[in-house]
Amino acid sequence: MAGLSFTVAIDGPAAAGKGTIARAVAAHFGFAHLDTGLLYRAVGAKGGDPVAVARGLTAADLERDDLRSLAAGQAASRVAVNPEVRAALIAFQRAFARQPGGAVLDGRDIGTVICPEADVKLYVTASPEVRAHRRWLEVGGDEAVVLAEVRERDARDMGRADAPLRAAADAVVIDTSEMSIDAAVAAAVKAVQARR
Ligand code: DC
Repeated sequence: MAGLSFTVAIDGPAAAGKGTIARAVAAHFGFAHLDTGLLYRAVGAKGGDPVAVARGLTAADLERDDLRSLAAGQAASRVAVNPEVRAALIAFQRAFARQPGGAVLDGRDIGTVICPEADVKLYVTASPEVRAHRRWLEVGGDEAVVLAEVRERDARDMGRADAPLRAAADAVVIDTSEMSIDAAVAAAVKAVQARR
């Protein structure tokens, strides 16, 4: 039936595997996918007044190829504490979530603030050490520095007053610390299947 929406909300800390899981779930069910971290990364990367940048954000801003760096992640986490920045990005995310055919959104506050009515909520997490190790395998450098950055970003994302990172009361928690990617994806697909 055309017009029927189905929303999957996936939240969790940096490098827990939520992006990989979100892409795999979207591909499995044929849903659209939005990595909402990219919105905050694009605002942080552009510089200038973050509120004005957030209000004027365009699709082209999300295409920059430097948005995945550690520096862009830290800049994103800093602009994301600003309630006016967050407010400016809400309408786009909610419209994406309601599109016909189904949508997967991954971020920090999807199940708690953006889509509290989501059909399925997943909270994907892993220990800080495991997440730092995975990030270090991608970016290299000093693993201790990567761990310190993971902890710093966790503290900022979980400690902010507006829309802090936390699992929604009705979220299915998937701890990927000791799981393969395939096992984590299978657990997520099963949780979504159970509610379709
Ligand atoms: O998921 P990510 O690493 O790309 O996110 C980068 C930063 O953006 C993250 O540290 C906090 C912020 N963010 C947010 O506040 N809310 C979201 N829904 C997604 C990301």
